[in-house]
Amino acid sequence: MTTEKTALTANSTIGAWLQHPAGEQIVRGIAAQAGMDDHALSVLRKVPLGLLIASSQNAPEGLIDTLVAKANGGRVPSDTEATGLAWVETITPGRFDGKTVIVTGAASGIGRAVASRVAREGGRVIAVDITADRLDALVAEVDGHQVIPVAGDITSEAGIAAIVAAADGQVDALANVAGLSDDFAPMHEVSDVILERVFNVNVFGVIRLTRAVLPLMIAAARGSIVNIASEAALRGSSSGLAYTASKNAVVGITKSTAFMYEPYGIRANSVAPGGTLTGMRPVNTNEFGLSRINKQRADVPIAVPQALAASITFLLSDDSVNINGAILPSDGGESVF
Ligand SMILES: NC(=O)c1ccc[n+]([C@@H]2O[C@H](COP(=O)([O-])OP(=O)(O)OC[C@H]3O[C@@H](n4cnc5c(N)ncnc54)[C@H](O)[C@@H]3O)[C@@H](O)[C@H]2O)c1
Repeated sequence: MTTEKTALTANSTIGAWLQHPAGEQIVRGIAAQAGMDDHALSVLRKVPLGLLIASSQNAPEGLIDTLVAKANGGRVPSDTEATGLAWVETITPGRFDGKTVIVTGAASGIGRAVASRVAREGGRVIAVDITADRLDALVAEVDGHQVIPVAGDITSEAGIAAIVAAADGQVDALANVAGLSDDFAPMHEVSDVILERVFNVNVFGVIRLTRAVLPLMIAAARGSIVNIASEAALRGSSSGLAYTASKNAVVGITKSTAFMYEPYGIRANSVAPGGTLTGMRPVNTNEFGLSRINKQRADVPIAVPQALAASITFLLSDDSVNINGAILPSDGGESVF
């Protein structure tokens, strides 16, 4: 029988659903339909079921409510009654008051979570992405806060000019989050198309936008830059050649920037995310690369994008005043496995 103590909600983690008799049956049923094995379920154990379903493109409307009712014998409990709740983001009110923060990749995943959190903590966000419609959804979600959408490409001169123009002379922080995955191809099979596509966004886009923003930070004698790297910057076994090389370049960009602009009161740091539940997927996966990567895959839970935003906004904010040139793994420990 379902009791209040064992209630499940949309915000309960998949791990909590698996520990609940009715919940386990439901989750295992969904996993079987999606062709997921026990390992795939295990890496999702810290993800709230509601979030997983929301991130799936073909889930029918209202599915999570149906599942919650089914697990609790027809009753839909409030989140405060539930056990096994997911980690909940806690806002620091006013942390970004008076600050202008540029966030790239703001329409999806980690960038969206960063933009949303900075805005809800009082910042004026220049939210940059190539996909305009999803930027509009972000603006609607944080209604009442300051989000200026810029539908622009960080690899084009026009895109960079539009971002700088939107900042209107003030940039206190820059989060270079936009990035692309590769196809997991190893050195002997990497194509020029993938090399150029990945480096254009992950490396040259980061350099060109930062180069355009730095004069404003130098004039203000302050600024915080956070570049998003990856596990791939720490190990050779998490992606293909192009992505791994690009994220190692991000580490070099971060260290050079941190060193060169220290006298100007500008800090540059990097966050290296582990697996995170976002829209990023490898395209046309290379067979050899995928088989090598799968052999090494650590049994570490996937994180929600808000957990990455917690690390990134810390480095963007004045709370990280004494940190410069750091490469911070935010991966639940994956890099030590
Ligand atoms: N998801 C993960 O598991 C993971 C792990 C390690 C590192 N990362 C890194 O985190 C960052 C964010 O990735 P995510 O997982 O949130 O991916 P995502 O695909 O959900 O979001 C990336 C966003 O960047 C935007 N973008 C791509 N190219 C752009 C361009 N030229 N100009 C402007 N915007 C552009 C995309 O439209 C998209 O909205 C990336 O740098 C990625 O390499 C992600």
